[in-house]
Amino acid sequence: MITALTAPRVRAWTEAAAPSDLPAYVHDLPALRAHAGAVAAHVRPVAELFYAAKANPDPAVLAAVAPCADGVEVASGGELAHVRSVLPDARLAFGGPGKTDAELAAALDAGVERLHVESPHELARLAALRRDAGVLLRVNLAGDRAGAALAMSGPFGMDPAAIDACRPILAAAPHVRLRGVHAHLASGLDAAAMVRQSAEILGWARPFLHGVTAPEINLGGGMAVDYADPAARFDWAAYARGLAGLRRPGETLRIEPGRALSVYCGWYVTDVLDVKRAHGEWFAILRGGTMHLRTPVTKGHDQPCAVLPRGGDGPATGGEPVTFVGQLCTPKDVFARRVAAGRVAVGDRVAFAMAGAYAWNISHHGFLMHPEPRFVYLDD
Ligand SMILES: Cc1ncc(COP(=O)(O)O)c(C=O)c1O
Repeated sequence: MITALTAPRVRAWTEAAAPSDLPAYVHDLPALRAHAGAVAAHVRPVAELFYAAKANPDPAVLAAVAPCADGVEVASGGELAHVRSVLPDARLAFGGPGKTDAELAAALDAGVERLHVESPHELARLAALRRDAGVLLRVNLAGDRAGAALAMSGPFGMDPAAIDACRPILAAAPHVRLRGVHAHLASGLDAAAMVRQSAEILGWARPFLHGVTAPEINLGGGMAVDYADPAARFDWAAYARGLAGLRRPGETLRIEPGRALSVYCGWYVTDVLDVKRAHGEWFAILRGGTMHLRTPVTKGHDQPCAVLPRGGDGPATGGEPVTFVGQLCTPKDVFARRVAAGRVAVGDRVAFAMAGAYAWNISHHGFLMHPEPRFVYLDD
């Protein structure tokens, strides 16, 4: 879909950029700080807010989000070392399946406050390190995830039977302290669905945590963003109200969103190298490609974009819908299909919105060895 380039700093940069500046990931840091601050104002009175670094671990993004968050969730030894170096004092939670012994030890060395344990075997290996550790057991509940963009079915966390197998391990390892339960069951839920899912998690966790002092329940991330409507926002106020209704005295609720925090601050900006018609369909070939911004391919959507005409007199469409593709030799290298972009000419600028999460860091950068994009950080 076509969207407006409403971010004034990004628009000014895009208009002034030379072709040699492109492609570029352009970050609107004041907008990110404002958005994260607004989310925090709703959430933090009722729940701790951790940022899931996997969404976008760019140091500038981490630094912008950190003052608005209670901590950061990391999901590998690499993320752990990276986030620790960027934010030496941040509270950290360490999750993710398949942690190695070395990663578990590194987490304790780095002062990770909470380990999200994914299996009885992982818990036993942690216990064998004979070091003090605070753990949340990650539960995988078999509920109905209808409406979710991604249900975390499969090997994530433990079903209630596997969790029961953790009890004797914990009983034999007093240095490993059960602090609570962690769950991240789905992505792409709106506020009402997220409240229902939170109630489901709490309904399971509370009896399980009976007897645990000051229990903590991490309700995960997965708050919806709408790539078909870049102006829409997850209803944080409604979710916070829902959590306030669910919360009980003495327990700590925690959430760990990623995408819904960082996605709006990033733009992938490029220009049109060529325009052509093939078998009746118009294509605009852009500098760069989905090796830089894999999100539309992995999610199977059209990345929303704004087109800034440059008035060039080179090849142009006649105003028909146009498919934006990159420079890769694969038909999968598509950013957006049949976009009603008006006349698109060689040299026009194209700015893809919602490129601040699961974008550069999930992309296959080395494929075809095109130059990497620039990274631009706009600030006041
Ligand atoms: C354990 C865990 N927590 C948090 C997140 C963040 O999810 P999102 O970026 O959808 O908010 C993920 C994403 O996969 C995850 O696996």
